[in-house]
Amino acid sequence: MTKIVLRCEDVKKTYSQGPQKVEVLKGIELDIHEGQQIAIVGASGSGKSTLLNVLGGLDQPDTGVVEILQRAFSQCSDNERGKIRNQSLGFVYQFHHLLPEFSALENVAMPLLIAGQKMADASKIAAQILHRVGLTDRAVHKPAELSGGERQRVAIARALVNNPACVLMDEPTGNLDSANAASIQALMAELSQSLSTAFIVVTHDLALAKTMHQVYELGEGRLVRVHG
Ligand SMILES: Nc1ncnc2c1ncn2[C@@H]1O[C@H](COP(=O)(O)OP(=O)(O)OP(=O)(O)O)[C@@H](O)[C@H]1O
Ligand SMILES: [Mg+2]
Repeated sequence: MTKIVLRCEDVKKTYSQGPQKVEVLKGIELDIHEGQQIAIVGASGSGKSTLLNVLGGLDQPDTGVVEILQRAFSQCSDNERGKIRNQSLGFVYQFHHLLPEFSALENVAMPLLIAGQKMADASKIAAQILHRVGLTDRAVHKPAELSGGERQRVAIARALVNNPACVLMDEPTGNLDSANAASIQALMAELSQSLSTAFIVVTHDLALAKTMHQVYELGEGRLVRVHG
């Protein structure tokens, strides 16, 4: 069996707004292996983004364990958690969240610079991964000068640049037309094969979900495998 890159055990999360409590996650169990690709589907408000934030260490569960490469987030300092996020995880959001003042190349190089790599080395690696996503010609353009699909490819390149064990994506094709969505989907499949990166993709796009190894549905606070 390949190694487990992300493990989630009995994760619970409740939001309280004044007297009202919203029990969003009621005991989530999930193991993700090296190179495994899963989709998470579910109704709006079912807790998909909440779950992704907890898996990525951006938010804390009330109880339960999230482990990345055998290290539990709950046992890490904020500093260590940031380091794990930078070195072992990649993130792609529905809206690309690229830095507007920086070029595509600089945006992609950013996680490497944060990890302490020298500019020359970071630029070289960033240029290679931009080439992989077919954007060599757009390297010096700023996000505002790129199309929606191109921006999302830059965001994917940025998520992959430090060769993370697992990439978490929230609606990566949500704002794209079907042709662009299909090309992003093909790109993800190719990259996960050649880099053995695991992908957890939250999506409303059933065509995209079906290309993943397994599909899970989040409902009533629980994650249930529905396909694969
Ligand atoms: N910070 C918060 N404080 C209080 N309630 C919240 C907070 N964040 C989310 N919620 C509530 O938790 C529930 C799950 O929200 P979440 O954003 O995880 O849903 P989602 O499945 O990602 O929905 P969508 O498909 O619309 O993006 C919703 O009822 C939402 O109102
Ligand atoms: Mg959401």
